[in-house]
This record gives sequence, C-alpha cells and structure tokens, in this order.
Amino acid sequence: MVAAGRALGAREPDPAMRNPDWLAEKLLGPEELALIQEHPLAATLINRGAKPIFEELGTVAAMLVRTKFIDEALRQAVEDGARQYVILGAGFDTRAHRFAKQLREVMVFEVDTEATQARKRRRAEAALGPTPQNLTYVTIDFNRQKLADVLAGAGYDPALRTFFTWEGVTMYVGEGGVRETLQTIAQAAPGSRLVLDYATRAVLDFMAKSPDYGSSPFLAKWGEPWVFGLPDGREQDFFEELGFRVCQRFPVFGPESIKRYLTRPDGTVIGAPAPGAPPRLNPQRQNMASVLSESGSSYYSLAELAVPDRPNA
Ligand SMILES: C[S@@+](CC[C@H](N)C(=O)[O-])C[C@H]1O[C@@H](n2cnc3c(N)ncnc32)[C@H](O)[C@@H]1O
Repeated sequence: MVAAGRALGAREPDPAMRNPDWLAEKLLGPEELALIQEHPLAATLINRGAKPIFEELGTVAAMLVRTKFIDEALRQAVEDGARQYVILGAGFDTRAHRFAKQLREVMVFEVDTEATQARKRRRAEAALGPTPQNLTYVTIDFNRQKLADVLAGAGYDPALRTFFTWEGVTMYVGEGGVRETLQTIAQAAPGSRLVLDYATRAVLDFMAKSPDYGSSPFLAKWGEPWVFGLPDGREQDFFEELGFRVCQRFPVFGPESIKRYLTRPDGTVIGAPAPGAPPRLNPQRQNMASVLSESGSSYYSLAELAVPDRPNA
C-alpha cells in the first residue's frame, strides 16, 4: 500500500515534487496490485489517467516526506562513514537498488517477516534483476524474536558504524517488540543512527473510535491494524530512556515538513485545496485534525536517533 503511494508520487510531473522512488512502480506487478485491489490507491495506479483523490494524496504526501527525509539521512550516514545499512521491516523498500552506487562499500540487510520478504524478493528479482551482492535478506518477527539474534546469524558486525531505518513499521508491532528492537539498536557501534517513524497513542485512540477512517478498514480487513503508539508528550523521554540521543523529531505534516517537502515552487501546498475551490477535507478528517490538535502532540512523526559514545567502551 505504501509502495503504491510512492509509485503514484513518482508519477508527479514536477521533479521538485516527485517522489524519488522511481522503482516503486516496477515492484508492483499484477499480483501485488491484486493484494490491495480494494484500496483506492490501487485503482488510481491502474487507471493511469486518474487524478489522485484527497484520501490518496494523504498517503502520497506522507510518502513524499518519508522517502525524501530518509533518503537524505541515508546519504548523510554513508558520507559520515556508516559501513552497514539495516532496513527493518523493509517491505517493498527499493533503497538497496536505488542507492547501489553509494552503498557499494556498505553491507545492506533487509529484515522483514518471512512471507512479505519472500514476495518482495521474488518480485525484485523479476523486475529489478539479481539481488545486489552486498544485500542480505534476514527474516524476523519483531514480536517474537530479538533483532540481535537474527542479525548475529546474518553476518552483521556490531562493531561497525551502522545506519538503521524502521519506516512505517512501529505502529504494527507490540510495545514489547518495539522496545526490544530499539534496545538492540541502542547497543550498536557509537555513531550509528536510526531513522524511524511513529504514531502517538492519540492516533490509536482516534482509530479505535473511528474504525472507518482512512485506510483503517483496509488494515483491519488485511489483519494488520495499528497497535502501538508512543506516549503523547513523552516521545523524547521514551527514546532517551532506551539509550538514544534524539537528533531530531520531525512531524510528517508539521510546518517544517510542509515548507521543505510539500510546497510547490509556485507556493501551493500538496493536498491543500486550490484557492477558491471547495474544501476537500471531509468531516471525518476535520474531526481527526481537531482531535489530534487538541492532544497537542505531533501525532505522526519521523525521528532521527543516534547511538551515543560509551565512555567506558
Ligand atoms: C507498512 S509496511 C512498510 C514497509 C517499508 N518499510 C516501507 O516503508 O515501504 C510495514 C512492514 O512492517 C513489516 N512488519 C510488520 N509487523 C512486523 C513484525 N512483527 N515483524 C517483522 N516485520 C513486521 C511488514 O512485513 C511490512 O514489511
């Protein structure tokens, strides 16, 4: 579903506003699209002429922010000397291919559930060619297995500076699995970094009250509901208590994100109604906006965390 959001965003004619994941669409063959056929994103993707409607633009816009923010962090991490790149809950992530040149000297690990990974691998080999030599596939269930254990068996070297991403995953994993995984990452070599995104509990509460909102009915039907949110207002403490230094927290639809990623060269904002057009926000969305703004939190955010130096290491 999120790869479909990236694929739609990559069709944007304006290069400044285009999602840089030009491979997302190649990874969505007929079998993959059939899996999400009820979702409006699939219909829009199949009907090439159709303009995305607002509900889809929400996903397209969020993916634009996520892809660009994480791509930038990846480039920086490699420049800063990361020797390993661990993509947690990789799904249909294409960075091992898109950044093949920059990652030549970097070991890449894609970590995901067995079923999703097998499908991704099959499709990637068919559509993008042989698995890059530096890429290792590793399976995990974050709710049942320790990241340290599965990485240890896959050739990961804990002494090497590593860049981790955990994109679009924490909301699907129980709190125990999230904490356990973060604790492993916090033990990585000093200077290692993690970029992840997370929802706060306010979103989970809202979803529980509004099961028909947005993609929730699809996620429920597919058996993949959101189950975890960080405690509102205590996000920084949550990460620090697990041993990280918080480099930045970046609300996906916050003012800085809108300025940096979602404002077109002509000043209009992706997803915002054109001047004079009737408002496109539906009542449910307004409701969510008001519920979440009342909670006073940045309810859906990216964060960049660093593994601090250990004085006695
Ligand atoms: C919404 S997708 C995001 C995929 C990819 N990171 C992206 O942003 O396109 C969620 C991913 O989390 C993985 N995932 C969810 N729960 C998991 C679990 N308990 N253990 C391992 N992976 C899990 C799924 O297999 C899927 O690949």
